[in-house]
Amino acid sequence: MVTKILRAAVVGLGLGRHHVEAYTAHPAVDLAALCDANAERLARFLGQYPGARGYANLEEMLSAERLDLVSIMTPDWLHADQGIQALRAGAHVVSTKPLTTTIEDARRFIAAADVAGRYLMVAHERRFHPRYRAMKRVLDDGLLGKVFYAELDYFTHKGRQFDATPWYKSAENPRDAILGTGAHAVDLLRWFAGEVEEAWGAGNHLAYPEFPGDDCQIGVFKLAGGAIGKVTQTYASVRGACEPDLRVVLHGTKGSMEDEKLISIDFFEGVPVTEVAERRPWRAVPPVQQEESSHRATINHFIDSLAQGRPPQPDGREGARTVAACLAVVESSRTGKSVRPAPF
Ligand SMILES: NC(=O)c1ccc[n+]([C@@H]2O[C@H](COP(=O)([O-])OP(=O)(O)OC[C@H]3O[C@@H](n4cnc5c(N)ncnc54)[C@H](O)[C@@H]3O)[C@@H](O)[C@H]2O)c1
Repeated sequence: MVTKILRAAVVGLGLGRHHVEAYTAHPAVDLAALCDANAERLARFLGQYPGARGYANLEEMLSAERLDLVSIMTPDWLHADQGIQALRAGAHVVSTKPLTTTIEDARRFIAAADVAGRYLMVAHERRFHPRYRAMKRVLDDGLLGKVFYAELDYFTHKGRQFDATPWYKSAENPRDAILGTGAHAVDLLRWFAGEVEEAWGAGNHLAYPEFPGDDCQIGVFKLAGGAIGKVTQTYASVRGACEPDLRVVLHGTKGSMEDEKLISIDFFEGVPVTEVAERRPWRAVPPVQQEESSHRATINHFIDSLAQGRPPQPDGREGARTVAACLAVVESSRTGKSVRPAPF
């Protein structure tokens, strides 16, 4: 059997380097082209990947190359326009998170994929990380019963990133922390505990007064199925400079999970829950074996899905639901009122 070699390109070579590596490592993919507006960065990558042709401009790349796959890895507000161009040129598209920065862009992006008959995936790579896959498996196995509370905290320190990559705090294209980075946690909240039905938000920017949005934000969520949840995103936590992991706490009718540890009454059959404490109840969350990085696993899933003719997940609509939930928090923190996310 002859496997078709898929021709791939990456637009934006910051975080995009992970997709470059993933395509290069995949036996069914030819890394055909790289695109970046920064000539120095582009030249550096072309030196490393001489088989790829380089472009400073996306239109030029799309008219010169016949591409099967395009990764959009540019700053947030460019994803929709660039992704739509690539879809119209006939490529399947994977966009980094957040899918878009507005509801309108998300609608345009999804519609363009539907019209082109091409797949659109959002690279919420935490869903492909062994740590969060292991937690998801515990939930799917029912060890927590029905989840009634979920809490995700992402305490980061962005000082280094803001210095190296100034667009992150540009006033021209402002981003709130809950959408810019909190999208990871909000996406996991939805994946773990259910769709967001209603959101409340609060925030401040005491840490970076020049930051155009809120750099410290809380979203409180009412989820389909009855659970409630909370996501906190900070950009200036000193703790975050040392331990940048996204923390997850989940409570259900049969158990509790905090990051890598788990209690379930299923482990202590016949023991009343009030007496479980005497049995040293915490256990390690059974690990998921995965050698490749979460970025590489994301791209492998994208390619496998294409080969099998099924939509990759999370798809454009999933990415848009996360954007809508984040934007509901932003709107609520401005108005003080609860907000129902735009439907997708
Ligand atoms: N999944 C994650 O954990 C994660 C982590 C970091 C960033 N991101 C997302 O990845 C995206 C890129 O972030 P980054 O940190 O790599 O930023 P970056 O600035 O380091 O890289 C973006 C690149 O895009 C290029 N670019 C800008 N405009 C362009 C254009 N019109 N055409 C072609 N190239 C253009 C820039 O020159 C730059 O090299 C953002 O949307 C960000 O939110 C995701």
